[in-house]
Amino acid sequence: MDQTHVEGDLELDQTLFTEEQIRHRLGEMAAQIQADYEGQDLLLVGVLKGAVMVMADLARSLDRHVEMDWMAISSYGSGTKSSGVVRILKDLDTDLKDRHVLVVEDIIDTGLTLSWLIANLRSRGPASVEIATLLRKPEAQQMEVGAKYVGFDIPNAFVVGYGLDYDEKYRNLRCIGTLAEHVYS
Ligand code: PRP
Repeated sequence: MDQTHVEGDLELDQTLFTEEQIRHRLGEMAAQIQADYEGQDLLLVGVLKGAVMVMADLARSLDRHVEMDWMAISSYGSGTKSSGVVRILKDLDTDLKDRHVLVVEDIIDTGLTLSWLIANLRSRGPASVEIATLLRKPEAQQMEVGAKYVGFDIPNAFVVGYGLDYDEKYRNLRCIGTLAEHVYS
């Protein structure tokens, strides 16, 4: 069996980004991050669960010390829609006072989750807070969140894979794609 294949690939309508394209782009982002934070400490904050793959690969592309911490937040909303009303399910273990914080996300959709999160993190007295996201949907954005590092801008379609789920499935796909209509209709 093809080692790169998992069953869920068959349910993709279209592959948007292959494993190789994702790896290459994360490498470029890592180089930029490395240059920007030279001589400074760096704390990567991952937002569970979608950011797990991005965090793992981005962090390993950085040729320097970094710390990693995680938050779990729940966005109240119906189904796939964010509401911007957020509850912390698991907070950071790290004190952010005077730290350089880089939030690592898989996707900015409406921007509601991150705009809340950034305000929350800024209130903790960090030296800086920036955002690195692999994907961004400019057409869906309701709140401008000013992500400093963006992998790819994508159309307003339902995407899965590489951490992104539909009904908790497809997170383990190596690529990112749009889901075939028969899966959710
Ligand atoms: C996704 C993603 C972001 C958020 C973006 O998480 O990881 O945190 O949605 O959406 P927004 O820009 O519209 O606020 P989700 O709530 O699906 O949880 P998950 O990471 O556990 O899949």
